Amino acid sequence: MGKDGKGSILRVTATPADIRKSYGTLSKFYGLLEGKFEKGLRQRGLELLAVKEGEAVLEIGIGTGFSLREIARSVGDTGKAHGIDATPEMLKRAEQRLRKAGPRERVVPAKGDARAMPYHDNMFDAVYMTATLELFDTPDIPGVLGEIRRVLKPGGRLVVASLSKDGRENFWFVSFYEWLHRKFPRYASCRPIYVEQAIKDTGFDIARSEEFMIMKLVPMRLVLARPR
Ligand SMILES: C[S@@+](CC[C@H](N)C(=O)[O-])C[C@H]1O[C@@H](n2cnc3c(N)ncnc32)[C@H](O)[C@@H]1O
Repeated sequence: MGKDGKGSILRVTATPADIRKSYGTLSKFYGLLEGKFEKGLRQRGLELLAVKEGEAVLEIGIGTGFSLREIARSVGDTGKAHGIDATPEMLKRAEQRLRKAGPRERVVPAKGDARAMPYHDNMFDAVYMTATLELFDTPDIPGVLGEIRRVLKPGGRLVVASLSKDGRENFWFVSFYEWLHRKFPRYASCRPIYVEQAIKDTGFDIARSEEFMIMKLVPMRLVLARPR
C-alpha cells in the first residue's frame, strides 16, 4: 500500500480481441445482468449525467443498450445519442433494443474502440461510460480518458461508473474479484481500479464522486467530472 493508502491495480492480460470474444459470448445473457442487476446504478449514473433536450451525448461500451435507450429519450428530437462498442454481438442486441424503443433517427450506435474513437474533437456535451473503464489495461486507461477529453466540448460533462478499489482495498469482494481476474483473465477481464484518481490525472476536475454498492456486494464508484 502506498503513502496515500492506495494499493496497486492489477494489469489486464486479456487482449482486446480476447475481450471482444468473451463479450460476444456473454452478450447472449448480458441483457439480464444489465437490466436487473445494474438498474439502480444506471438510474443514478443517468441522474448525474442530467442529459438535456437538444444535447449531443456519447455512451462508450453500450452493452445491450439499456442506457443508450434512456439517453436517446432524454435528448429528444433535436438532440443526438451516439453509442460505441467494440463487440459486434453486443451492438446487434443494442440495435434490437433501440429499434423496439422507437427513436431511430436520434440514436447512432457504432462499432469502434474507445482507445481511438471515430468522432470529431469537441463534438459532445456529455459522455457516459459504465462498467467499461475497468476493462482497459493500466497503460490504456489514460488513453481512453484522453480520447474522451478530445471529443468533449469545453465545459462538457463526463460520468464514469466503474468497479472501484477506492477505500475498499481490504473488502472481501475486491479480493475475491482480483482472485477471479488472476484465475480467469479472459472472462473476469475487468478488475477494480482507482477511478477518481485516473480521471483527475487525465486533466478533469471532479465535480462529484460517490460509491454505489450493487446488492451490498459490488463497490462501484460514480464520478461526474469536467475537462479542466
Ligand atoms: C461490462 S460491459 C458494460 C456494458 C454497459 N455499459 C453496462 O453498464 O452494463 C463492457 C462493454 O464494453 C465493450 N467494450 C470492450 N472493449 C471495448 C473497447 N475497446 N471499446 C469500446 N467498447 C468496448 C464490451 O463489448 C461491452 O459491451
